[in-house]
Amino acid sequence: HGTSRVNDLGHLEIGHVDSVDLKEQFGTPLYVYDVALIRERANDFVQAFKKRGIKAQVAYASKAFSCVAMVQLAKELDLSLDVVSGGELHTALVAGFPVEKIHFHGNNKSPFEIDMAVEAGIGCFVVDNFWEIELLKEAAKKYKRKVSVLLRITPGVEAHTHEYISTGQEDSKFGFDLISGQAEEAILKVNDGEAFDMLGFHCHIGSQIFETTGFVMTVEKVFSYLAEWKSKLGYTPQVLNLGGGFGIRYIEGDTPLPVSHYIDATIDAVEAQSTKLGIEIPEIWIEPGRSLVGDAGTTLYTVGSEKEIPEVRHYLSVDGGMTDNLRPALYQAKYEAMIANRSHDTKQETYSIAGKCCESGDMLIWDIALPFAKAGDILAVSCTGAYGYSMANNYNRIPRPAVVFVENGQSTLVVKRETYKDIVQLDLQLNGNSLEK
Ligand code: LLP
Repeated sequence: HGTSRVNDLGHLEIGHVDSVDLKEQFGTPLYVYDVALIRERANDFVQAFKKRGIKAQVAYASKAFSCVAMVQLAKELDLSLDVVSGGELHTALVAGFPVEKIHFHGNNKSPFEIDMAVEAGIGCFVVDNFWEIELLKEAAKKYKRKVSVLLRITPGVEAHTHEYISTGQEDSKFGFDLISGQAEEAILKVNDGEAFDMLGFHCHIGSQIFETTGFVMTVEKVFSYLAEWKSKLGYTPQVLNLGGGFGIRYIEGDTPLPVSHYIDATIDAVEAQSTKLGIEIPEIWIEPGRSLVGDAGTTLYTVGSEKEIPEVRHYLSVDGGMTDNLRPALYQAKYEAMIANRSHDTKQETYSIAGKCCESGDMLIWDIALPFAKAGDILAVSCTGAYGYSMANNYNRIPRPAVVFVENGQSTLVVKRETYKDIVQLDLQLNGNSLEK
């Protein structure tokens, strides 16, 4: 997919760069992003709205993969940016992202993070709870500026997806509850014409969604409340943000829809509800993460040891694992892989791919057919672009990999590989002194 293909040497090429050269130049494990594919995905979303003549903002949910270069690419692609922490906000500011297009999420933004964002003058806060409203009021006073907000509501729609990543159901830590009247109370607090500019509402029903039903149900549910609030409070939103969650194909059997199907179904529902209930069509905002960067990312590993238990299993270990991709261990996520330096070889063996961490659960892939592999081969795992590097960690004090962007035969290092020096950088000695330089 994307610009990935096998060249005449039988090597995997991404962005017209040979993976064998990438390994040689940058080492492994290595995150490789196909920039042309990110451009294509972003364009799909933007065009889907344009085609329908709907005012929209497409924000990149930077939690999927954030670094300065990625934020700069999002800027180049004219996207807005969703950040969920002071760290992601700082990255955006350092990258020179237009502040007015930054949206700040999170269910427990600290007073410090709120001050930082208000001072920077970001585009809007996605307000999650009553405490945040109080903090924002104080910050608005302190910095003498009005704060634009969306209220995050919990639509009570549960997307058909993994339990840990569903956020739309009623029993959720996120947002204002509709049933108990919290949302209405929040509107009254925020729509005061003083500290706040109340733009509208936000909801997000989950991630890795393959159907349009959840989005349509959400629109219907939210509009029924909009009708109530219009008649009761005289409030009509200018913006409705429907979150992210558009699925991608990790393995055969995953059946995501083309982007335009999700958007068309959603807009159809918005138009139908708006006509039915006499509510002006708001701007529609979305915030995809996975579907913008997920399938653009490939991780290259070097094969090391193997262990064959006759009739049982053939383990093949690579030089990374749950430190650079936590998703298999955390969500039992499935991936496809290939031997990138000998793709022409016909498949001959069923392997289970192990990571190098001291933990039995550190398995990247169970039972995958590959050509016979040996130490030094390159294993490429595809579709690791979302929630891979962003959830990478230093378990076992393993340094995090480097990240490279490839496009048109050019490779650009965008995140350096961590070093052992980095690993002990924050450590102090037992006596409290810094380490010798
Ligand atoms: N907006 C909100 C409010 C979200 O909570 C999320 C994801 C997104 C947008 C972007 O969703 P996406 O388009 O990427 O599905 N670590 C998990 C995914 C956690 C998603 C959290 N929220 C994973 O690796 O599958």
